[in-house]
Amino acid sequence: MRIPGPEHQEDGGRSAVAAAGGLHQYQLRLHAAYGPVVRFQLPGADTAVSVADPVLLEATAHLDKRPEELFAFLDPLCEAGNLQVLPADEHTPWRRLLLSVLAGRPSHERHFARFAELAREVADRWATGQAGQPAPAGPAGPAGRAGSANGQPIELQKELTALSLRMICGFAFGGADADTDADRLVVAFEDVLTEHLGRLYQVPRPDPRSAERAEEALAYLRATVDRVVAAHRSDGRTDRSDLIGALVEAGESPARIRDTVMVTLLAAHHTTGVAVSWTLHLLGRHPDAADRVAAELDEVLGDRAAPDYGDLRRLTYLDMVLKESMRLFPPGPYGARETTEHLALGPYEIPAGTTVFYPFWAVHLNPEHWPEPERFDPERFAPQEVAKRHRLAYVPFGIGPRSCEGAALATVEAQLVLAVLLKRLRFQPAPGHEVTPVERFVLWARDGIRMTVQLRELT
Ligand code: HEM
Repeated sequence: MRIPGPEHQEDGGRSAVAAAGGLHQYQLRLHAAYGPVVRFQLPGADTAVSVADPVLLEATAHLDKRPEELFAFLDPLCEAGNLQVLPADEHTPWRRLLLSVLAGRPSHERHFARFAELAREVADRWATGQAGQPAPAGPAGPAGRAGSANGQPIELQKELTALSLRMICGFAFGGADADTDADRLVVAFEDVLTEHLGRLYQVPRPDPRSAERAEEALAYLRATVDRVVAAHRSDGRTDRSDLIGALVEAGESPARIRDTVMVTLLAAHHTTGVAVSWTLHLLGRHPDAADRVAAELDEVLGDRAAPDYGDLRRLTYLDMVLKESMRLFPPGPYGARETTEHLALGPYEIPAGTTVFYPFWAVHLNPEHWPEPERFDPERFAPQEVAKRHRLAYVPFGIGPRSCEGAALATVEAQLVLAVLLKRLRFQPAPGHEVTPVERFVLWARDGIRMTVQLRELT
């Protein structure tokens, strides 16, 4: 049976995507018009099959190959082969190694105090009205209160992305992160992605120096990683709880270490930063949920400013809110695989070599599995509700053997940052600022997410 979908388009589907107002809207329309399995074109894949139904996704969950063309924009970050498209026999041991560091409780616990310190620095700055300023040397203390709640909006996305990058730098680099300039790293990643995603989607770059900037940015990124790897080697440190230490100890080649660090920093910081930003955005628009989070934090933390690692599992409502936010705004909105052999997908037959497209965002809005899908309702993640749903109805970290190795670490980071910020501050939408989601490599807000903060004591 032929998979339904729109007519073939000479421009590879670009104008159809643009006319729909972006890939997500296009995807939603296609699935509404043709059903859960749709054949369509997108830049980099002339025939892709999009699957927006959890039950049918299950039939693809074993696929262990990514389509090279769709991920070619990451080639420049990698010297020893694009890690996103490593063949399965090379990918499996690499994944195991990453999981041993990123998913392990001991390494989360070891880095937790530093993460909490970084989160508290941000809360202190915001509480004292110094958003956008460099982190102060120490906690602000009560004297800083005078400048708080000054009504100046904070650009959450930018600030929280930088915070995530600082955290992952600490995690990746161990003790050698002191000299890294997180803001400059964020800009460098932006420059590389803007240029290479722009090439993929044939989007004109506003800056005529975009290609040159991307080259310079890449050189800067590589030099930074090299410096830290060299520091590690000269230390003779073999600490498996930080990424570089684990890679050095596992005997990985210098080029592979460099690639892995680059890709991990990239995969980690935008995603976690926007996850927290979207959550604060939604809480700002749902004061009842914000009140409930605050009450839970007061109960679990008492008068402490930050949770301990062990407290996180007691912050159950906060976790439900985070999950609901990642359902509505999944930081990684898409994924893709390639079939290596014939695949039966419901009533359809898919030949080897087909691109299977994962519209995670559309899966999260599938009305068959999510009643009133656009409504923010953290109760959807109460255990009894979760038990009723198909496991692949909620896939913010992807599916199967290529799913996100950083899922556990990202969850710890996001819960911690939210707990620290929401214990102290109340967030409200900045008047007149419109928040518009746009999908790039991550689900981003086009003009940022600006919110005002108030000290909770003052609300
Ligand atoms: C809220 C935060 C995050 C979200 C929502 C997220 C989401 C995702 C998604 C959707 C994928 C693609 C999965 C697929 O194709 O099935 C992915 C891949 C990946 N993520 Fe994350 N991620 C997050 C944070 C992190 C962090 C903190 C790290 C590392 C410290 C990380 C490392 C990776 C890596 C290495 C891959 C490539 C997986 C592979 O090819 O084996 N991510 N992530």
